[in-house]
Amino acid sequence: KHRKTLEGKTVLITAGPTYEAIDPVRFIGNHSSGKMGFALAAEASKRGAKVILISGPTSQKIEDSNIEIHKVTSAKEMFDEVFKYYEKVDIAIASAAVADYAPKEAAKEKIKKVENSLTIELIKNPDILKTMGERKAKQFLVGFALETENEDENAKSKLVKKNLDMIVLNSLRDEGAGFRNDTNKIKILTKNKNSEFPLKSKNEVAKDILNFMESQILK
Ligand code: PMT
Repeated sequence: KHRKTLEGKTVLITAGPTYEAIDPVRFIGNHSSGKMGFALAAEASKRGAKVILISGPTSQKIEDSNIEIHKVTSAKEMFDEVFKYYEKVDIAIASAAVADYAPKEAAKEKIKKVENSLTIELIKNPDILKTMGERKAKQFLVGFALETENEDENAKSKLVKKNLDMIVLNSLRDEGAGFRNDTNKIKILTKNKNSEFPLKSKNEVAKDILNFMESQILK
């Protein structure tokens, strides 16, 4: 049985990868499965929250009357969808793996195999989480950091630069952590606190994240 600790709160969660079109058949993407974000959505709903889940392409499914799913493909679409709702939410959690760059233009037709090398010009995508940080009013803002080196330093820098209240660090150097696995190993950082957690199922990790968040909000 769950205590409805998030009753009356609206939580926006981004999840999954984004796909950036190269041409009608190809894209730039990443290995995110959406599992972490969907686990967070399920747990927030169990705690009584209304959840707005904005997800890139994923095979994850969830049926829950407290969770509204909004499907998007590219980072730009995710950006637009997030800012339809952001102003009104109490909590935002960015677990999506958003592509930092997209092809300058998607080719209208399938690119033919002709030359030995092919150059695709990439342009920076908008940073959704950073923009949430800039537009932060009442929202409690939770970011993720996926790192492969200098983990703590990089996560701390994202916490500050994106104006977050807390950041969840996962490292691809940890076995069983990050993309696709059913498990994750995280560290949570705030301005003046660090907490490290052992490897757990993503459902359990979602509980740890929301417990920590609640302890910060009610502080
Ligand atoms: O989906 P799974 O397979 O379960 O995997 C889970 C996960 C590894 C994707 C997840 O735990 C995770 O780490 N998500 C963040 C991945 C990421 O892109 O991290 P980053 O360090 O590159 O980005 C930092 C933060 O900024 C993230 O909260 C990201 O959502 C956000 N961001 C980044 C770029 C951008 N253009 N817009 C953003 O909002």
